[in-house]
Amino acid sequence: AGAGETPFQGQPSQTYDSAFLKACRREPVPHTPVWFMRQAGRSLPEYRKVREGTQMLESCMRPDLVTEITLQPVRRHNVDAAIFFSDIVVPLKAIGVDLDIKPGVGPVVAQPIRRREDLAQLRDLTPEDVSYVTEAIGMLTGELGATPLIGFAGAPFTLASYLVEGGPSKNHEHTKALMYGDPQLWADLLDRLADITSAFLKVQIEAGASAIQLFDSWVGALAPADYRRSVMPASAKVLESVAPYGVPRIHFGVGTGELLGLMGEAGADVMGVDYRVALDEAARRVGPGKALQGNLDPAVLFSTEEAVRAKTDEVLAAASGLEGHVFNLGHGVLPTTPPDALTRLVEYVHTRTAR
Ligand code: CP3
Repeated sequence: AGAGETPFQGQPSQTYDSAFLKACRREPVPHTPVWFMRQAGRSLPEYRKVREGTQMLESCMRPDLVTEITLQPVRRHNVDAAIFFSDIVVPLKAIGVDLDIKPGVGPVVAQPIRRREDLAQLRDLTPEDVSYVTEAIGMLTGELGATPLIGFAGAPFTLASYLVEGGPSKNHEHTKALMYGDPQLWADLLDRLADITSAFLKVQIEAGASAIQLFDSWVGALAPADYRRSVMPASAKVLESVAPYGVPRIHFGVGTGELLGLMGEAGADVMGVDYRVALDEAARRVGPGKALQGNLDPAVLFSTEEAVRAKTDEVLAAASGLEGHVFNLGHGVLPTTPPDALTRLVEYVHTRTAR
């Protein structure tokens, strides 16, 4: 495409013909593209080495570290896409929410949001608040060349869960108490988070991300009727806000088998599927017009090579009739995963699907 046809300024057009973006657009691919949620991180010794002595959130604010950590799995595993090294709570930290990421625990919030006056903690995010993100992505797209970079953000429900509970939660009881007990405050909270999330995604796309993934990791805790009424409007607002850029929008949550149709309706181009629903069944639930991403159980990587291949063949067989398939795990790489098992898996999928 000539310069005048570029969808927006800053998109690295070198990535347009990559297998990953083609699969997202449901076009024919030379091989099924592969990347892994949480591909950068503790499973890699080179990650543990560069992170030594630096807190998680601090490392997200250092463009040199972000660039190195994002590139590590691309170098080692030959994956088809990089995912930006950051965290879903980075934009909240950037607007001044008092929170930290505790090793082995996850995000912890000092003043949980449970009353209307607590909303004052959430102001709008400006690009200047996350200038280190823009800087890191500029460095990264230069290094990555034709390999696409995936930007990401946490969806309003998942962010709200951390903010309302004050930390990771199994049952999300405070979150649900607020959602059912004060629907207006809940709607205002999610709407504010939708605006922050949209702003954070726009920064990443304008800096050069070729696709985005909206993580609604914990929304599988909800029944479809509650999702539709209390969450879908905010997620749809986020996805709609980045639609004009034309980059693929991936949407993913854990345990969301019963929500796949609604999450697709919220506006994604690619639906991420966890390992509990086979991809052919997921396609029936999502309906036509969307690619699917997934969905090997991350725990399978602890088994024998033979078992990994057999389970991978199952995923590929279930994906054989799809309009577009991006191979991934059904959730993030577990921290103690043997890295070589990931490298071999990428190689296996590439070889097995070469056309
Ligand atoms: O490689 C990648 O996928 C990119 C990096 C990435 C991180 N967090 C880095 C990280 C991504 C995409 C995330 C998103 C994220 N963060 C999600 C959505 C994805 C999912 O897994 O469902 C969620 C729910 C969070 C919140 C969060 N941050 C958790 C649950 C944890 C783990 C806590 C722990 O220590 O077990 C974090 C911290 C975190 N984010 C780490 C990494 C590499 C581990 C911290 C470390 O290495 O010190």
